[in-house]
Amino acid sequence: MNNFTFYTPTRYIFGREAESHVGRLAKLEGWRKVMIVYGGGSAVRSGLLDRVKASLESEGISHVELSGIRPNPTDDRVYEGITVARETNIDALIAVGGGSVIDTAKGIACGVPYEGDFWDFYCGKKVVEKALPVGVVLTIPAAGSEGSGNSVITRKDGLIKLSLRTESALRPKFSCLNPELTFTLPPFQTACGICDMMVHIMERYFTPTENVEVTDRLAEGLLKAIIDQAYVVMSNPMDYDARANIMWSGTMAHNGICGCGRQEDWASHFIEHEISALYPQVAHGAGLAVIVPAWMRFVGTSKPSKVAQFGRRIFGIDTSDDRQAVLRTVDMLKTFFHNIGLPTSISELGIDDHIDIELLVRKLHQNKGEKIGAYIPLSPLDTKAIYELAL
Ligand code: NZQ
Ligand code: ZN
Repeated sequence: MNNFTFYTPTRYIFGREAESHVGRLAKLEGWRKVMIVYGGGSAVRSGLLDRVKASLESEGISHVELSGIRPNPTDDRVYEGITVARETNIDALIAVGGGSVIDTAKGIACGVPYEGDFWDFYCGKKVVEKALPVGVVLTIPAAGSEGSGNSVITRKDGLIKLSLRTESALRPKFSCLNPELTFTLPPFQTACGICDMMVHIMERYFTPTENVEVTDRLAEGLLKAIIDQAYVVMSNPMDYDARANIMWSGTMAHNGICGCGRQEDWASHFIEHEISALYPQVAHGAGLAVIVPAWMRFVGTSKPSKVAQFGRRIFGIDTSDDRQAVLRTVDMLKTFFHNIGLPTSISELGIDDHIDIELLVRKLHQNKGEKIGAYIPLSPLDTKAIYELAL
């Protein structure tokens, strides 16, 4: 096991009516004026936005708004938010939504106190030292941004989608997690979120680090619970307990606990991010459902051991032959994704244009380096093969 530091200073308020605590929590943090960031309308339609505003008002906290954040969020909205935040002198942001909304709020949070271009943080030129604090009301368990120090933004110029990872600067001060808020999710978004959280665990599971049995077992336990609960949620979207289990899994999948002491992979995420950057109509979780089985098949050919372990422990595959186990694991994973309504090939992603794999590979390695991933570091030839396997 490797040395590590683990610091997750987010306060979680979990359960029914969790969002009613926003005002109290904001006051506890000493905030007086906040920017509420939200998406394309689900929070308005459900009445959630009004409840959040009422909670803030009851504590005498005033607000400005930044609305209409779209999935796979872009830098233009972050620049706009930074300008408004400076003009209105807010002292914190409240993100009401999913990964796209939270990540936009985090981009604004680090951009406001910085004199240069906020993008410097995302492209690795600068390290975030100061940021406005962020609070979250989560509406979709998926990206895990409610418990992570990360943010993913696409630069419109060149369609470059990059993730910024901070140890603690961008971890939310608090996150309100009410499973009932996820009752209104369309089944496809629920499934995309389930896939995304599973892959956050898998990116940590597939590691070259040896002797990490505790985090292996943590990861396996979470994955098995997610798969069980996924079937319950997909057949009964109003099942509170299943929604609650899925919601908390999404947070644990990405708050770092499954990655302690081990090198992480992230190749599948990087490979997918090029797709949802070029084709923003592709939901990140759907892109992952397409890429991960192809990645698994590719790496399982030359290094089958951990993939076979994954298949045996998650899906109960009983062959002692590692290569056979890899093939069956890929099949089982695809079957699961298919059963919950996800695509498992690029052709099912609803992209009308011809997919330009050469362009995806070129952008991927320009943005992420000559080799990507840790379980097996992948060259441009390897990632091209993975995109082709996913066709
Ligand atoms: O905009 P509204 O109307 O709210 O609709 C949203 C959106 O269309 C809808 N939705 C959310 N909550 C709902 C709801 N609809 C009905 N009822 C509700 N309760 O769901 C759609 C997707 O929302 P989005 O925020 O885009 O989903 P997600 O949480 O999957 O976030 C995806 C973004 O996060 C990034 C992805 O790349 C993508 O840009 N990621 C961020 C990470 C991080 N910060 O650590 C890690 C991830 O790997 C990921 O890359
Ligand atoms: Zn993800």
